[in-house]
Amino acid sequence: MKRNPNLVHLSSEHHDGLVIALRIKKALDHLQDYQVLIDYIHHLWPSLKHHFSQEEDNFLAYPTIQKQDKLIKRMLDEHLEFEYIITKINPDNPDLRNDLQAFSILLKDHIRFEERLLFPYIEDQLTTQELAQVGTQLEQTHRPLDANWGPNFWD
Ligand SMILES: [Fe+2]
Repeated sequence: MKRNPNLVHLSSEHHDGLVIALRIKKALDHLQDYQVLIDYIHHLWPSLKHHFSQEEDNFLAYPTIQKQDKLIKRMLDEHLEFEYIITKINPDNPDLRNDLQAFSILLKDHIRFEERLLFPYIEDQLTTQELAQVGTQLEQTHRPLDANWGPNFWD
């Protein structure tokens, strides 16, 4: 199904998020020093958090969307999982490689879940007018993910 145009900013950030996840996954196959990945992820983190807030604030602003809805709960739980995993993306972590891999998998799976299940649900639950309000809000406050930041470690 075609994405509602009012959600395209979020979907375009999802596209960039999938690029980021793939780059991290590939880099883990050949990089010896993971510092470049640590820097990359920490640079992207404020924009990712902003993206999560945009989803939470916009979707939960309407009475047909509730925190305890199964799909909304999964979204919120996974956003919290990112908050936890980011604390482990640092050079002192002896299990860094596994956690970088876990970050990349979580990012990919979370985006697929939102695109395949959550966004169709949101499109179904919100009225045309509410979706238009979300679109206007995102137009003013969205912030693209800077997937190309930093040295090129992915080619
Ligand atoms: Fe998202």
